[in-house]
Amino acid sequence: MAYNLLKGKKGIIFGALNNMSIAWKVAEQAHEEGASFVLTNTPVAMRFGELDELAKKTGSIIIPADASSEKDLEELVKKTMDHFGGKIDFILHAIGMSMNVRKGNVYNELNYNYLAKTLDVSAISFHKVLQVAYRLDAINEWGSVVALSYVAAQRTLYRYNDMADAKALLESIARSFGYIYGRERKVRVNTISQSPTRTTAGSGVKGMDALLDFTERMSPLGNADATECAEYCVTLFSDLTKKVTMQNLFHDGGFSSMGMSNRAMQMYNRSLECDDCPEEEEEMNLD
Ligand SMILES: NC(=O)c1ccc[n+]([C@@H]2O[C@H](COP(=O)([O-])OP(=O)(O)OC[C@H]3O[C@@H](n4cnc5c(N)ncnc54)[C@H](O)[C@@H]3O)[C@@H](O)[C@H]2O)c1
Repeated sequence: MAYNLLKGKKGIIFGALNNMSIAWKVAEQAHEEGASFVLTNTPVAMRFGELDELAKKTGSIIIPADASSEKDLEELVKKTMDHFGGKIDFILHAIGMSMNVRKGNVYNELNYNYLAKTLDVSAISFHKVLQVAYRLDAINEWGSVVALSYVAAQRTLYRYNDMADAKALLESIARSFGYIYGRERKVRVNTISQSPTRTTAGSGVKGMDALLDFTERMSPLGNADATECAEYCVTLFSDLTKKVTMQNLFHDGGFSSMGMSNRAMQMYNRSLECDDCPEEEEEMNLD
């Protein structure tokens, strides 16, 4: 159901690769809510992805850009402003990439060239997007910039590797730039810390199925899927959240506040060969 929350708003959406991408769902929802936007991704991703289909469906244009290149970003923002004949209202940064994860390098044996690339593409690119937008004064007052993060920024999760460091930096950039952008231009900057989600980037995390099962059992509301993440993004781009800035907002069904849940403990007990595990029926009565 659409509420016209983004009627007349214009934006840039980074990171839609295929119809599993969180950014893809954000584009669909933003379109339904009345927004117009430019879609962008790397030229390589465009060759392998299905961005044309999304552009057609949402009446958008595509402008390629490598988000780690300031030159590309400057061209992207200038062309976007030309296209819309003025400033924009929102930006979604949905970009993540780690060569260490791809190559299976464990955290205590990182390749530092890859680490630098992880940080550049997955986090510093957010600073570059903000800096270019700020320099070109591309965002209207009460505009909103959102990047997607993960709870590994706060807590160690097996195998998330150097992406955890990238997410910690990403969230810090949102706070530091959010202060300046809010103070000077009344633009808000936030990160959404999303549940594990089955996407191309998500599948790069080894043991994704087990992780999804674990977080589903741990979260009182269950995992948040990509469509639900898109709905949350829309509220942050809307005028209903004008005073929310410099926050890392957990969108994870409650996972980040849990220590252990009954459902997860049941599964854990089942896998233990122990005599003193409580009976399942008994456990059902526990909180
Ligand atoms: N899937 C999950 O479990 C999950 C959970 C929390 C947060 N996130 C975050 O959500 C965001 C979107 O990821 P997704 O899960 O939708 O996966 P995805 O693979 O669909 O999206 C990642 C995107 O990053 C783009 N990208 C990579 N390098 C780039 C560069 N140099 N310049 C521009 N774009 C580049 C890719 O082309 C791709 O479109 C990422 O920041 C990811 O870390 C994902």
